[in-house]
Amino acid sequence: MTPTITLAQGDITRQNADAIVNAANSSLLGGGGVDGAIHRRGGPAILEECRALRASRYGRGLPTGRAVATTAGELAARWVIHTVGPVYRAPGGDPSLLASCYRECLRVADELGARTVAFPAVSTGAYGWPLDDAARIAVQAVRETDTDVEEVRFVLFDERAYEAFAAQVD
Ligand code: AR6
Repeated sequence: MTPTITLAQGDITRQNADAIVNAANSSLLGGGGVDGAIHRRGGPAILEECRALRASRYGRGLPTGRAVATTAGELAARWVIHTVGPVYRAPGGDPSLLASCYRECLRVADELGARTVAFPAVSTGAYGWPLDDAARIAVQAVRETDTDVEEVRFVLFDERAYEAFAAQVD
């Protein structure tokens, strides 16, 4: 099945969803943007599990385009799915790696049994991916993924990002 796509504007850490996605970096040890907000509001349990993942499966870090789940700590969601988006450097970044983030998150969500998953606009902040292009890649990747996830909610921080995604979904 393909999930229903919905849009919301605001802070992803406030979302009620089975899982929320973190636009992390390979270290899994935190950062700014969405990553900072999730760790701040979710509390230390998330970082503890990230550290354990670094000590076991991902000694060299989580590769770009991949995803892994942890507890969501004190957040309303049950899980955080961490993914590492590609960096955009003029004249571009690798779109297949950005699409892979969405596909891999949905694969991990299926393993967990999550039915609603909230995504931020991966790579469009510190990693510099132009919003319109990122929105096109994100929506297309979700539409092409066969998953038991019923709802994919893109949670866009500001109006500009919301409009970019709305243009792809309408
Ligand atoms: N809720 C929803 N969206 C948000 C929030 C929030 N609370 N905060 C920011 N955004 P970014 P990236 C939007 O930089 O580009 C971190 O330091 C933001 O406006 O969070 O993938 C990591 O540790 C933008 O549209 O992620 C990595 O080092 C989008 O979320 C690096 O940044 C993504 O911005 C990852 O960079």
